[in-house]
Amino acid sequence: MTQQTTLLEVNNLKKSFGGVQAVKGVSFSLFSGEAVAVVGDNGAGKSTVVKMISGAYTRDGGDIHWEGAAVDIAHPDDARSIGIETMYQDLALVPDLDAPGNVFLGQEPMKRMFGFLPIIDREKMQLDARRLLERVRINLPSLERPISALSGGQRQATAIARFLLSERARLIIMDEPTAALGVQEQRKVMDLIRTLKSQQMTILVVSHNLEHVFEVCDRIIVFRAGEVAGIVRTKDVDKQAVVSLIMGGNT
Ligand SMILES: Nc1ncnc2c1ncn2[C@@H]1O[C@H](COP(=O)(O)OP(=O)(O)OP(=O)(O)O)[C@@H](O)[C@H]1O
Ligand SMILES: [Mg+2]
Repeated sequence: MTQQTTLLEVNNLKKSFGGVQAVKGVSFSLFSGEAVAVVGDNGAGKSTVVKMISGAYTRDGGDIHWEGAAVDIAHPDDARSIGIETMYQDLALVPDLDAPGNVFLGQEPMKRMFGFLPIIDREKMQLDARRLLERVRINLPSLERPISALSGGQRQATAIARFLLSERARLIIMDEPTAALGVQEQRKVMDLIRTLKSQQMTILVVSHNLEHVFEVCDRIIVFRAGEVAGIVRTKDVDKQAVVSLIMGGNT
């Protein structure tokens, strides 16, 4: 990390489901250009916290600051409009469409035929999609293949390329991006995180895989039972120390 500009700060986030307090006052900051892992046991509240930041869940309490200013994130569009993009488990891709179609879904570039008839500018779509896919350093066998014919890693890269379309994107949140992938595909996702980091993107990644976390993340936020059990720099600790934090010293 070269600079330590705070991009996102969350204070005392809270969320209950019925009688269950899933998140009990969580606070942390993210600096610009760093990759931060969120780890913790099943049910620790990791997904609930990232959903409050991405606007998928409304929070019961707490506040969120973005580049120093209080923001109200009540809907995914609110998060997106300030530069927070979230990769959901299903990736929200359309299986029958090719990569450019998915990258531009709902925001296709238009041109005018005969000077007045608006039609999709396929040529621009292919060119821009290729440029964005190059930024995430993914090689697709062909841009015409439907997404359903691509590998898990290629699909994730396509989903990320779509985020990059938004010039505003500053923070990319991934909730267990490698969970459903084979070993080689997992590697690609690690590479992707490194690539995004080198392009000054900030990454918040929920993961159960400490190998991966130690490989690409600068810091680790450990959740336990809806609370932050510790925040450590990857280079200052070993896996055993993180496991202890996850388990609450009961290892
Ligand atoms: N939509 C929901 N309705 C009711 N309870 C929920 C909901 N989402 C989460 N919870 C509960 O909140 C707690 C935290 O869940 P959360 O999904 O945030 O955990 P997690 O740390 O992401 O776990 P995992 O590692 O298994 O994904 C759990 O007890 C869970 O059952
Ligand atoms: Mg989860």
